[in-house]
Amino acid sequence: MEKLVVANWKMNPQSEREAVRLAKASDFSGVVIAPPFVFLDAVGKILKKAELGAQDIFAPLKKSKKHTGEISPEMLKNLGVKYVILGHSERRALGETDAIVNREVLAALRAGLKVVLCVGENLSIRKRGIAAAKNFVKSQLKKDLKWLGKSLIIVSYEPIWAIGTGKNDSPKDAAEMAKFIKTVLTCKVLYGGSITSENISGFLKFKEIDGFLVGGASLKISEFSRIIKKTK
Ligand code: PGA
Repeated sequence: MEKLVVANWKMNPQSEREAVRLAKASDFSGVVIAPPFVFLDAVGKILKKAELGAQDIFAPLKKSKKHTGEISPEMLKNLGVKYVILGHSERRALGETDAIVNREVLAALRAGLKVVLCVGENLSIRKRGIAAAKNFVKSQLKKDLKWLGKSLIIVSYEPIWAIGTGKNDSPKDAAEMAKFIKTVLTCKVLYGGSITSENISGFLKFKEIDGFLVGGASLKISEFSRIIKKTK
């Protein structure tokens, strides 16, 4: 089965010209490109094979309040966005609680977006062992997916200590976690955290891992196409 690869560009690049150039070079089937909000329109217009994703949405507690600076899931849907990454650890570190992530998941699904929910433990939890990490991930899933009903989502397992550090999880442990997540809910599970064209081969051996969320390596044109080639 084809793997799903989500390119999370984070706060990159710095101009629309660069974003369009990068998107053209990353336009493969089975890929979701998630640029910053300001480049969604331009990137969406040039994509032929890849799908468009966003990195976040805003889901207010009270709709009646005003929300300076925020972006709704409906705006994204109307722009042609298909996927949204929610609960990324870099957003949680800025104060997104599980209750906020839960509101975002429900609002995104209501607007017709596909959700890629990021979960994963920090280093001090992982040092206590894989069982402690599983417990943490299970409790995140429970809180983030409260009231979910039967909607399908995609989960991205991203141990925080592996993101942007060059220290990827071992494929075996990531596969064990993916398998565990699938006992908690019916979903696809991606792995994210320092994926490169070199280390991806180890992860591809495990059928439990349905794809990857790629940060840093998705910004390097030749590295990203090597990654995609390996997943085909
Ligand atoms: P990375 O980022 O590939 O740079 O580690 C992954 C992520 O954003 O989860």
